[in-house]
Amino acid sequence: MVVSETKAGDDEKSSYVDSTFASRYVRTCLPRFHMPEKSIPKEAAYQIISDELMLDGNPRLNLASFVTTWMEPECDKLIMDSINKNYVDMDEYPNRCVNMIARLFNATVGDHEAGVGVGTVGSSEAIMLAGLAFKRKWQQKRKAQGKPFDKPNIVTGANVQVCWEKFARYFEVELKEVKLSEGYYVMDPEKAVEMVDENTICVAAILGSTLTGEFEDVKRLNELLMEKNKETGWDIPIHVDAASGGFIAPFIYPDIEWDFRLPLVKSINVSGHKYGLVYAGIGWVVWRSKDDLPEDLVFHINYLGADQPTFTLNFSKGSSQIIAQYYQLIRLGYEGYKCIMENCRDNMKILRDGLEKTGKFNVVSKDIGVPLVAFSLKDSTKYTVFDISENLRKFGWIVPAYTMPPNAEHIAVLRVVIREDFSRSLADRLLNDLLKVMAQLDAHPVAVSTNTAHVTLDSNGKAKKDEIEIQQEVTKHWKRLVDRKKTCGTC
Ligand SMILES: Cc1ncc(COP(=O)(O)O)c(C=O)c1O
Repeated sequence: MVVSETKAGDDEKSSYVDSTFASRYVRTCLPRFHMPEKSIPKEAAYQIISDELMLDGNPRLNLASFVTTWMEPECDKLIMDSINKNYVDMDEYPNRCVNMIARLFNATVGDHEAGVGVGTVGSSEAIMLAGLAFKRKWQQKRKAQGKPFDKPNIVTGANVQVCWEKFARYFEVELKEVKLSEGYYVMDPEKAVEMVDENTICVAAILGSTLTGEFEDVKRLNELLMEKNKETGWDIPIHVDAASGGFIAPFIYPDIEWDFRLPLVKSINVSGHKYGLVYAGIGWVVWRSKDDLPEDLVFHINYLGADQPTFTLNFSKGSSQIIAQYYQLIRLGYEGYKCIMENCRDNMKILRDGLEKTGKFNVVSKDIGVPLVAFSLKDSTKYTVFDISENLRKFGWIVPAYTMPPNAEHIAVLRVVIREDFSRSLADRLLNDLLKVMAQLDAHPVAVSTNTAHVTLDSNGKAKKDEIEIQQEVTKHWKRLVDRKKTCGTC
């Protein structure tokens, strides 16, 4: 039993020892808008917060997220051991990780040479830094040529993660998006190269689209852009957003050329907290060489005892995730990462096969890519993927449903991300629960479907919806879910 003891004289009720649950602290509501006047016992504070945390979804059943939810107890211990260490006070570990990752991505660094890169909070910060480096390099070149340098743009697919939109807006770069089409949910390299111009600071390709897991064809992009650069005299580089794929492709698809083997690839980001297998809070960006990172973006500080170059948006931050990344790299090695990624791929195939066997879904994700299954309903007349998503919550599963970006907005999918801790038995359980949900929805579409108001009947009395109606429902439903803060995003 948790016991709380408060100082005598506080008030009548708190002047004796009682259980946390009988104390006055749990009888009053938590303040939400201002700091309380008085202190409370540590046990009560702990209990109140931990009770509220019980209401969060179970991270292991959150199949929306790529972010790691399980690590070995030895690593958990290291994380706790280093929880009070500031990243800026660490000399070695970040560099060791950068060196290993740069080599994993085939950077041409000599045996004892250091890779060029930095640890970040995640891929978003990594992308901001990489984007800034491209913008600055482009501006320097334009200034030197006496040309205008106020209208930089970046070319990406419409499937980019929101961090690219943030980069564009925060750092005033126009985002030129290649539209998608039904059945083609990644950036078409031909169309991307048609969109570049003299103000393009880089083309960003994704190794593992957030929406479908598919790898974009960086090799083809590199070829086409080389031709374009030759033709025009431009010098447009490529950034690869390998947030998820950066820790997958080197291990199970080593022959796919997407990294520094391609001459125009100047920088790559990867999320340590996705398939790098570390808890949330760590990403990396590496540059091909020192020349690709403008020196005037790097600050040098000396007041911590030595010359320390820094190129991050933040200064202080926790160091435990970096230590955890180092642990994973040396603990697992190439062999361990390969084994885990193969396992994820096998589990993805089991789930995909099970879904296909139902005959009710079109699987839109590909076998080669991030191990996830994105699938749409063949028939959305009785219920939509949003209904399935919502009903799966009753079983504890968090499976997001979303619409594709322009011009494929009329396609709505569910997505299950397969992480290391998603075992075969969980895949079976999910399939079973999905079948139960669909059986309920088939049997009682009016009772359980949230969209029945839109069902119309055709001449045979059958439910019928046209594409626009379905799209309207999907959007309406999506908004409702967001309003209720029930979605967990596609991160
Ligand atoms: C392709 C891609 N890029 C960038 C990000 C942002 O990554 P982070 O959450 O590490 O900031 C994500 C997140 O899912 C992603 O899928």
